Amino acid sequence: MTHASTHDSSGTLVHPADSPDSPWWRDAVIYQIYPRSWADANGDGIGDLPGITARLPYLRDLGVDAVWLSPFYVSPMNDAGYDVADYRDIDPVFGTLEDADTLIAAAHDLGLKILIDLVPNHTSSEHEWFKAALAAAPGSRERNRYIFRDGSGPHGDLPPNNWRSVFGGQGWSRVNDPDGTPGQWYLHIFDTTQPDVNWENEEVRAEYDAILRFWLDRGVDGFRVDVAHGLVKDQTFPDTTGSMHTAENEPGHRMPMWDQDGVHDIYRRWRRILDEYTVPGDPDSERILCAEAWVQPEERLARYVRPDEMHQAFNFEFLDTGWGAAGYRHVIEESYRSNDAVGAPTTWVLSNHDVIRHATRLAILSEGYRPNGIGADDPQPDAELGLRRARAATTMMLALPGGAYVYQGEELGLPEHTTMPDEWRQDPIFHRTKGTDEFALGRDGCRVPMPWTKEGPSAGFGPSERSWLPQPAAYAGLAVDQQQGVPGSTLTLYRDLLDYRRKHRFGHGSLAWSPLTDATTLAFLNTSGDGTRTVLVVTNFGPDPVPLPGGDVIIASSPLTDDGAVPTDTTVWLRLPSAS
Ligand code: GLC
Repeated sequence: MTHASTHDSSGTLVHPADSPDSPWWRDAVIYQIYPRSWADANGDGIGDLPGITARLPYLRDLGVDAVWLSPFYVSPMNDAGYDVADYRDIDPVFGTLEDADTLIAAAHDLGLKILIDLVPNHTSSEHEWFKAALAAAPGSRERNRYIFRDGSGPHGDLPPNNWRSVFGGQGWSRVNDPDGTPGQWYLHIFDTTQPDVNWENEEVRAEYDAILRFWLDRGVDGFRVDVAHGLVKDQTFPDTTGSMHTAENEPGHRMPMWDQDGVHDIYRRWRRILDEYTVPGDPDSERILCAEAWVQPEERLARYVRPDEMHQAFNFEFLDTGWGAAGYRHVIEESYRSNDAVGAPTTWVLSNHDVIRHATRLAILSEGYRPNGIGADDPQPDAELGLRRARAATTMMLALPGGAYVYQGEELGLPEHTTMPDEWRQDPIFHRTKGTDEFALGRDGCRVPMPWTKEGPSAGFGPSERSWLPQPAAYAGLAVDQQQGVPGSTLTLYRDLLDYRRKHRFGHGSLAWSPLTDATTLAFLNTSGDGTRTVLVVTNFGPDPVPLPGGDVIIASSPLTDDGAVPTDTTVWLRLPSAS
């Protein structure tokens, strides 16, 4: 072995270790299941709860701590279930409430916790409340559960202000009064079928309290909170000065529907409810809230995880970081600085159901550029490069202290479907922006059903050929049965990373920069939560191999060079010899 000389295992401390007996969620690895696309038990081409239950042992073997399920509620599915018509029941396409109970119990038996998705910013237009609002008069109690306003202009036929929809087009739609004449406008930050609810109204707050309790009583361990930065709107409804993807507080911009201070009262209230479910003296019984909040900078995000608010918030600045040492170094430092200041763990994430899968994204992006969908007419990403970087990125991420989320299929190295024919596309973004200058293909490419077996219909997704989105040709070769137990496979890499991380509690460890860090190398030391082990983690973003100091290579995202150095786009975990 050739090596740089000995390595100082102290480094520059960025983040101190967590207390060894801190609760489960501070370092949990949580696996996101998109129920439509994970496992289809009944062969209708759409995944379902019995399918998930049957395959839960796969997740225990993978070594994750918990599962987050994207919405499974009754829904017309205009936004794949993020348009909820009944928060207290399961959509028949996914199963029944009894199936949900069975799933929760089976997960708990396997030692897995279950988080579900709470969608409080909007309901579906099919929700009883919205139907009642349409049937009622302006100013009524029924309308006050949503955000209805008179239009502007002499005849009220212009929207109340300039707010747009995140999915393209106007953010307001006009309704007809019960007598058929054009009436007020209602706000929908997303699709027209997703009316925003009015969080100024105590009746609304009480209803969502009750929904939380309904699911907590059924045994769920927590909630991922959809659009957590959007619930409260500036009540003067001023015009925006940016696109809907601009963050509030971006210099020179005002985005009065994002990250308003009032949201924090809601999360304090919810935290009190969740805390009622903690069994005294048993941190394992803690139920949690995780914010989906696209806010900047990291300090604003940290406000969502103050001690009396949520437990976790997705670190999207990390997800949006372009492939390079300087960007990751910056975001890692800022994340710990902001979260340590409020005593919260950092929650790392690279992929989810809203973004291009990182095995594809990392091959195309520079400086954080992230297209909204890729199609057959676009330049096609280099799959090999993307997978290599994705493996290096995950190997780095899973060594960072804090919690982490893994999106279904990333453990197989699945790429985005980048050639999906348009007639299959279902994302409302595609349909709402078609033919406009906001045009975007949308998110279907990252939502394609999982391949479980190389042979068989729908690559083992279900017992029939049917699959609600088509699987690209490459998926069968990446199926679970092709990777399970195969040395060097991405699935084996994930299992090994999770196993080692858990054994030595690296999620509770400390983080210090190693002096090997430079313009093209990211190198940090994680000293395990139990203080017994230090791992040096080196990612090489540059063209030349990086020599390693002495120590045992535990895991490498790609093979090392012949003389034991870290090649381009590779991350290595190296166990340093103990000081004694
Ligand atoms: C969140 C979800 C996304 C959904 C949107 C509206 O961003 O992750 O999938 O479309 O909220 O509910």
